[in-house]
Amino acid sequence: MAPLHPHLVLVGMMGAGKTTAGRRVARQLGWRHVDADKRIERTTGRAIPEIFAADGEAGFRAIERDVLASLLGVPGRTVVSTGGGAVLSPANRALMRQRGTVVWLRARPETLLARVGAGKDRPLLADDPAASVRRIATERQSAYANAAHVIVDVDGLTADQVADAVLAAVKARERAS
Ligand code: S3P
Repeated sequence: MAPLHPHLVLVGMMGAGKTTAGRRVARQLGWRHVDADKRIERTTGRAIPEIFAADGEAGFRAIERDVLASLLGVPGRTVVSTGGGAVLSPANRALMRQRGTVVWLRARPETLLARVGAGKDRPLLADDPAASVRRIATERQSAYANAAHVIVDVDGLTADQVADAVLAAVKARERAS
């Protein structure tokens, strides 16, 4: 029988470790891994900062929505590492929840800041990364909570520990369904 929630979707702020965890979890499960931002860059032939500069955030979000829908529409089993703002759209949140198990990699601002550094390649952090990370994390708190089936707190965890926690959450959910 086809699995009820075929995909695994990682959500969370910039710097939460979605790409690294996604790659590791997919390897362990033997599933495909796709990073949504990389897919956006590949399909448009443009880097994320270029898209923001030319089309604005709204233009980027429209592309992000289409890419997410196509990634989650396929029948196989995929681990999708989303961009940090993918949860802003209620339609994206509904689709993620319907098509997969959604795991929020939750982190304190200090953890995020240590990873994003000067915010290079992340247009939303270009001006003042420290202030922006705190503001955006607060603004999005409820969107992440609404999207997620499962929360993994990543502060102080190694990449392997994050991957293990995600795997445990997915297995528990599959057992329950
Ligand atoms: C964004 C996060 C980025 C990228 C874009 C916007 C956001 O992805 O999609 O710069 O709105 O949080 P990462 O979360 O992979 O950095």
